[in-house]
Amino acid sequence: MKPITMEKQNTMNTPQDFLPINGTDYVEFYVGNAKQAAFYYQTAFGFQPLAYAGLETGLKDRTSYVLVQDKIRFVFTSSLVPDSEIGVHAMKHGDGVKVVALWVDDARKSWEETTARGAVSYFEPRVEKDNNGEVVLSGIHTYGETVHIFVERKNYKGPFLPGFVAWNPEYRSTDVGLRYVDHMVGNVGWGQMNQWVDFYARVMGFSQLVSFDDKDISTEYTALMSKVMSNGNGRIKFPINEPAEGKKRSQVEEYLDFYGTSGVQHVAMATDNILHTVRELRNRGIEFLTVPGSYYDTVLNRVGKIDEEILALKELGILVDRDDEGYLLQIFTKPVEDRPTVFYEIIQRKGAKSFGKGNFKALFEAIELEQGRRGTL
Ligand SMILES: [Fe+2]
Repeated sequence: MKPITMEKQNTMNTPQDFLPINGTDYVEFYVGNAKQAAFYYQTAFGFQPLAYAGLETGLKDRTSYVLVQDKIRFVFTSSLVPDSEIGVHAMKHGDGVKVVALWVDDARKSWEETTARGAVSYFEPRVEKDNNGEVVLSGIHTYGETVHIFVERKNYKGPFLPGFVAWNPEYRSTDVGLRYVDHMVGNVGWGQMNQWVDFYARVMGFSQLVSFDDKDISTEYTALMSKVMSNGNGRIKFPINEPAEGKKRSQVEEYLDFYGTSGVQHVAMATDNILHTVRELRNRGIEFLTVPGSYYDTVLNRVGKIDEEILALKELGILVDRDDEGYLLQIFTKPVEDRPTVFYEIIQRKGAKSFGKGNFKALFEAIELEQGRRGTL
């Protein structure tokens, strides 16, 4: 199926063609302590060490650890000096996503096409080289302080990017079966969803897959709205959330209050075996949102026949939803930072291309329970 999609993408003469994207290249987090963050993601999430940059490689002001699990690359960067952009970012927002990097064949053209359509430049196209070859990088701003960096790496053979050396610590954890970034969700401020939907449509050539209004995503107390934007070949999916009026403070508002601005709310990572992945993550201390046990009394009436044992799903807290094309299994972690900001979704798609609409209500009630404990509802 994939080659057909690619061919279609390459031959389509539509406005979408101005920004072909091969996939997510990496996600970079600015954090308070990159060394300890790297250890957490190695140990708890099963990421493998890939590359390193810091004092030993000639940097004076920052340190970065690069981790990998199949196609997912995470970079954890922290400041070595008090007043750098990275340090200020970590102080203002807590640990969070700074860069959503996109893998492209032409980083110059990506920058030219998007800035010509109104994107604000983060940095102009530049070539970076080392003994392993060269890459072309360019960057644009998106919501909040988040940026997209376009990465053109066809002439590069090194472990990550120029300036990084291979990182081979003795300590290794086993992976947990995470395979690729399925989607990444942005939380934006009141009334800003359509502005950012328009940005991804007009500036980046994405189209809208689906829209949820506050009637779809609400409980008795809280509500939010969401639109899902996707690039031409469907490999990049960015749902954009904004808060909606409810009786109490919604999870998006809580995020905005603690993050201080718009930003990435969750990264959904795909697995081919969610039972194995979630069992491993739980054993390693990852905490998940739990829905009431009664969810499993009725879920099969809603989604029909599935391959998995319902008791195994119940034991692990995995949720199920179905659309016209199949079903999906998903589960959400609690926030993994001190602040109630970034969290993760683990998802296994069995045909379904949607996002688990049937689980929204149960999930948001579970989140409200957590907010209640935090005193932020
Ligand atoms: Fe999601």
